[in-house]
Amino acid sequence: MPREYALRRIPDETYRWIESKSKASHVSVNQFLLDTVEVVREGSGQLPLFEDRPYLVASDSSMVPFKFIDLFAGIGGFRLALQRLGGTCVFTSEWDKFSQKTYEAWWGDRPQGDINEIDADEIPDHDILAAGFPCQPFSIAGVSKKNSLGKAHGFDCKEQGNLFFRICEIVKAKRPPILILENVKNLKSHDKRRTWPVIKSSLESLDYVVFDQTIDARDYVPQHRERIFIVCFDSKVFGANPGYQFPDPPSGPSPKFRDILEAEPDPKYILTTHLWKYLQAYAAKHKKAGNGFGYGMTDLDGVSRTLSARYYKDGSEVLIPRGGRKRPRRLTLVEAARLMGFGDMVTAREDIPVSDTQAYKQFGNAVVPAVVEAVARQALSVAVRELARGDGGCLLKRTC
Ligand SMILES: C[S@@+](CC[C@H](N)C(=O)[O-])C[C@H]1O[C@@H](n2cnc3c(N)ncnc32)[C@H](O)[C@@H]1O
Repeated sequence: MPREYALRRIPDETYRWIESKSKASHVSVNQFLLDTVEVVREGSGQLPLFEDRPYLVASDSSMVPFKFIDLFAGIGGFRLALQRLGGTCVFTSEWDKFSQKTYEAWWGDRPQGDINEIDADEIPDHDILAAGFPCQPFSIAGVSKKNSLGKAHGFDCKEQGNLFFRICEIVKAKRPPILILENVKNLKSHDKRRTWPVIKSSLESLDYVVFDQTIDARDYVPQHRERIFIVCFDSKVFGANPGYQFPDPPSGPSPKFRDILEAEPDPKYILTTHLWKYLQAYAAKHKKAGNGFGYGMTDLDGVSRTLSARYYKDGSEVLIPRGGRKRPRRLTLVEAARLMGFGDMVTAREDIPVSDTQAYKQFGNAVVPAVVEAVARQALSVAVRELARGDGGCLLKRTC
């Protein structure tokens, strides 16, 4: 095709680049230019990563267009991370009405409700399925609570344990090239280590290659928070060895707890004399009995304990010393947001549309976005490598 046909006076070097890219993508020069113009016209640069436009993929994996779905979305920890990486959210599910409220205020989308009620075929096509599926049936606290109530846990927990299999059904119907799942660390040891092999083999039987690692968020935020991340690649797309590597911890100084503190916290967060006495007595009793239960007075130059969904009860796991014999205080909501890595979403109390109780629960349940971002960036670099193989980037079975 004569070069004038599409555009006049293109520098030779640029024309050669256009020609080579269109060849690699198996489209005509004209089609390549039209597609490129379309992206610019749309203004979003968000054509699907894993479809047939490899030339639109940035040379580094930090900013690539892709679509994702956000299941068990909570307040959108996955969404924050994946949008930062250039993703577009095409579907969200979260059934808790308070979390829906926060999610809608922050992201502009009201999540759909119970995932069991949603027809998998109605979920839009997507490149990444993200899900921090409910951890309560698998967490140590959840298991002992359910045991003490004589209730089933793990997969036997009828209401929640089967949600993993719901994810599998969606995966089967939609075949997203990449899955990123998150859960409590205890998932690996749950039920005498019988739960994890079921999860892994279920994903493998769907033809996904499974990578997992427990990551402590302390390298990203000043909080000890260990969670298992499960990253899966469709072997029909990426082959048997996608070569995924979990991220190395970021370099640079470790996050310090004092950096998330507000300068002038509301005095209402100071523990009452009654509660402080109670927590001290409780800790002393357990120390005498030889176990470590007790409050967590945070080292300001270190990291806090894990923020749990029950923080609203007494705040005992993350207390903030106020010097001398002063009674400690709890985290403000702004501080709780920062401790989880949601500082960009919450600069003031008004940014949170729910009660303190609900907000602490939501933060305690959330995933740390910075960890997801690091994990997902590595997954995207696998995708970019695959696209760069120059075979037309025909990654999705639906486009081949
Ligand atoms: C561990 S939290 C995930 C939090 C999320 N990753 C975040 O960053 O906020 C699990 C979420 O799943 C939601 N959930 C539980 N069962 C559900 C169901 N059947 N349908 C939709 N959401 C559900 C819970 O309300 C909870 O918010």
